[in-house]
Amino acid sequence: MKFQLPQPLKVRGAPRELATGANPYQPAPARVMRIQDLTPDVRLFELRFSDGSLARTFAWRPGQFVELSVLGVGEGPFSLPSSPTRPGILQLGIRRAGTLTNYLFDHISEGDELGIRGPLGNGFPVERFSNHDVLMIAGGLGMVPLRGLLHYLLDLRSSVGRIILLYGSRSPEQVLFRDELESLARRGDAEIVLSVDSAGGRIWNGREGVVTELLDDVELDVDRTYAVACGPPVFYEFVLEKLVDAGFGKNRIFLSLERRMECGVGKCGHCAVGYTFTCLHGPVFSYWDAINLPELIYT
Ligand SMILES: Cc1cc2nc3c(=O)[nH]c(=O)nc-3n(C[C@H](O)[C@H](O)[C@H](O)COP(=O)(O)OP(=O)(O)OC[C@H]3O[C@@H](n4cnc5c(N)ncnc54)[C@H](O)[C@@H]3O)c2cc1C
Ligand code: FES
Repeated sequence: MKFQLPQPLKVRGAPRELATGANPYQPAPARVMRIQDLTPDVRLFELRFSDGSLARTFAWRPGQFVELSVLGVGEGPFSLPSSPTRPGILQLGIRRAGTLTNYLFDHISEGDELGIRGPLGNGFPVERFSNHDVLMIAGGLGMVPLRGLLHYLLDLRSSVGRIILLYGSRSPEQVLFRDELESLARRGDAEIVLSVDSAGGRIWNGREGVVTELLDDVELDVDRTYAVACGPPVFYEFVLEKLVDAGFGKNRIFLSLERRMECGVGKCGHCAVGYTFTCLHGPVFSYWDAINLPELIYT
């Protein structure tokens, strides 16, 4: 398998250049190859850089993000649900939220050209996961970055121990990548359990209840497991307490946290919390690092 994981960003200052260009503010054109509905309000956009050489060489770490732009409309940060082990096509799982995302849903079609800057942020410390078990817990849209990590770990299957994914959604139609996850669960390479708050009488083979309840049924060796969590602020309140109660060290829990971002490269200050720039020092933080900045986790 040919791919090169980029080194984690050295976070002393803003990057002077990005993989997408010498000017870190200038997006590289990328063509929309495919658009697919994942849920009623989340779509998968598959893009390929128009520059063939960039398309072949663009590499990222699971957990990093890109800035996606539409000329004359706006720009926003989006996680990468695909793995760097499968280069060439970049996938983005985008929920309709406001100006930019509405435009993407209502006016962008396959064949259109968008702009991408990146990769940005630090990503998950995947080197540490080697020969360890990895427990992923996702809530809602938090499945997007964790799906990139899941594919990455599956592609390097022999280098990690157990791969466990617990993923909670509000209802069956809100489950992202449902067919794929159900099929992976049947294949057995990863232990995958899906839950919904309520199935509401619809066909559902997973569990009902909040995602934290799934943790009660998983036997874990916390000394050889890293936990990775991504979800909305309310999700962290319960998940972090459960993980600490289960015996996880705070330096073995990693969170992917989102703030409002503009530049993505540590210049504008929009994403600053205390002394931390989420776009540079994050979006992935260990619980140990984030615990002194609760507004980073819960707002
Ligand atoms: C590191 C990072 C990764 C992200 N990954 C994804 C992803 O994979 N998929 C996805 O759909 N979204 C993701 N987001 C959120 C996404 O960037 C915003 O939803 C998007 O930029 C909104 O742009 P808009 O112009 O459509 O909405 P706007 O018109 O700007 O805002 C509409 C509403 O969304 C809220 N909003 C805007 N940005 C954010 C944000 N960052 N966090 C919470 N609320 C916000 C606003 O407060 C407002 O209520 C990510 C954000 C960050 C910081
Ligand atoms: S988004 Fe500008 S400093 Fe982080």
